[in-house]
Amino acid sequence: MGTAQINQTRLANEGESAVMTSGPIIEARDVDYSLEVAGRPLHILRKVSLSVAPSEVVAIVGPSGSGKTSLLMLLAGLERATGGSVVVNGRELGGMGEDDLARFRRHTLGIVFQSFHLIPSLSALDNVGLALEIAEPDLTMAQVRDKAAAALAAVGLENRLDHRPSALSGGEQQRVGLARASVANPPLLLADEPTGNLDQKTGAIVVDLMFDLARRNKTAVVLITHDPSLADRADRVFTMTQGQLTETTAPMATQAAARPARKSVRK
Ligand SMILES: Nc1ncnc2c1ncn2[C@@H]1O[C@H](COP(=O)(O)OP(=O)(O)OP(=O)(O)O)[C@@H](O)[C@H]1O
Ligand SMILES: [Mg+2]
Repeated sequence: MGTAQINQTRLANEGESAVMTSGPIIEARDVDYSLEVAGRPLHILRKVSLSVAPSEVVAIVGPSGSGKTSLLMLLAGLERATGGSVVVNGRELGGMGEDDLARFRRHTLGIVFQSFHLIPSLSALDNVGLALEIAEPDLTMAQVRDKAAAALAAVGLENRLDHRPSALSGGEQQRVGLARASVANPPLLLADEPTGNLDQKTGAIVVDLMFDLARRNKTAVVLITHDPSLADRADRVFTMTQGQLTETTAPMATQAAARPARKSVRK
C-alpha cells in the first residue's frame, strides 16, 4: 500500500484527529506519575519528557521497576499522568474522557505485548480481523478478511491463517500480535518487551519485522526492551532510571560491553 493510500486510510479513520504530519506524534512534557500506595505517595515517573517524530523508531531501556511500562501506559491513555502533559497525535490525553480515549486508542495506536494476548479460541486470521473490525467497523467481512490476510502475509504468516495460537510457535504468535497491532495502519506502535518470551534469535527476527513494517508504513514506534542489541536498531535510544528518562547517544551494545565503567552522554 502506498503512503498516500495509508494517509487516506488514516484520515478516513481519524475524523477530527487525523494524523498530523507536521508535529511530533508524541510530545510528553515534564510528565509526573505518582500513585498512593498504603497511604504514602509513590513517585513512579519524574519530569519525563519525550518527543517522537512521525515515523521515528525509538527504544527505551532501563532496569526493572524503573517506570518503562508506566510511561507506555500513559502514552496509550490507559493511565493518567499526575503532572505535565502527554500529547499524542496532536491530542492532549489529560483532557480526554474515557470514551474519547477509547476512540483515540482504536485509531491511533497498535500495542504489542510481551505475552502476546491473542484470543486462544480464534484463528490467526480472526485474531487480526477482530482488531480491524473494532478499529474500522464499516468494513465488509470480505474487506476485513482480505486486510487481515494481507497483514499476516506481511509478517510471513500467509500459510498460518487458520492456525489457533496454541498451534503456533512463540515467534509466530508474536508475529500475529504484530499483524494485529498494525492491521489498521495506526500512526504509532507501542511495544512493551515484545521479545521477552522469545529466544534471542526469534526476538531479533520479530523486532526486525516490526521495524521494517514501521518504516514501510511510516509508523512511529516506541519499543521497550532489555536487549541492547535490539535497542541499537532504533533511530534513538532512551534510558529510564528510577523514573527519569534520558537520551543515550552511545550504542547500547557498546555500553553493555563496557559496563561497569559505563559512560553515557546525556542531553
Ligand atoms: N498500580 C501500581 N501500584 C503500585 N505500584 C506500581 C503500580 N504500577 C507500577 N508500580 C510500581 O512502579 C514502578 C515502575 O513500574 P513499571 O512497571 O513501570 O516498571 P518497568 O520499568 O516496566 O519494569 P520491568 O522492566 O520489570 O517491566 C515499580 O516499582 C512498580 O512496582
Ligand atoms: Mg515493564
